[in-house]
Amino acid sequence: MNQQDIIQKTAEYIKQECTGDSSGHDWWHIYRVWKNAMTLCEHEKADTFIVQLAALLHDLDDWKFNNSGDETPLRAKTWLDSLSIDPAIADAVSRIIMHVSYKGAGVINKMDSLEGFIVQDADRLDAIGAIGIARAFAYGGYKNRPLYDPNSPPQIHQTFEQYKNSESATINHFYEKLLLLKDMMNTATAKRIAEQRHEIMVKFLDQFMNEWDGKDV
Ligand code: ADP
Ligand code: NI
Repeated sequence: MNQQDIIQKTAEYIKQECTGDSSGHDWWHIYRVWKNAMTLCEHEKADTFIVQLAALLHDLDDWKFNNSGDETPLRAKTWLDSLSIDPAIADAVSRIIMHVSYKGAGVINKMDSLEGFIVQDADRLDAIGAIGIARAFAYGGYKNRPLYDPNSPPQIHQTFEQYKNSESATINHFYEKLLLLKDMMNTATAKRIAEQRHEIMVKFLDQFMNEWDGKDV
């Protein structure tokens, strides 16, 4: 099978796996990350086959949706093996999947390849801006979280365990992750795209707080 066919087959597989998701991790999230990643590739000398496979498979083993609580890429590996992908490529893709997720404001990023930096940026771009706002509240609803609780301030998580076990209101997630992403982008292109998306979230939060106290006169 040529690379194009492998990408196509992987996209179809993921589309089918994501059916019915209402947490902001549906096929269209994967599609946007894939497209964001390809845009970033226009400005970097990366291996686009690895980038596309990792973008398509990046949430298949997400800790938020499996019982193990980590991101050992078992399902992604099984899929890549079923296509008889070159082991070195499968390995590079697996390493990206393992390190792609945000794990808390104070937790060090272990991503170590250009292809990984691109996929991570592409995923993080979809966590901010107008779409990021929509996804955060979709996820909050999926987890039965309140929109906002003025009595529970945001936390800066120093370990993945703390971040993982947090059950705070969705507005807190903006301070615990989304507003921090602009300065955590790896590539210059993503940094530039993030600026405008960041501003939209700042304006949204400002308006949200004014409306909360009935001060938007
Ligand atoms: P990551 O792997 O970095 O977590 P994902 O693609 O899995 O990235 O998507 C993360 C998205 O899920 C967040 O950007 C947000 O929209 C949503 N999310 C995750 N945790 C929370 C939370 N505690 N509150 C609200 N939204 C959340
Ligand atoms: Ni994702």
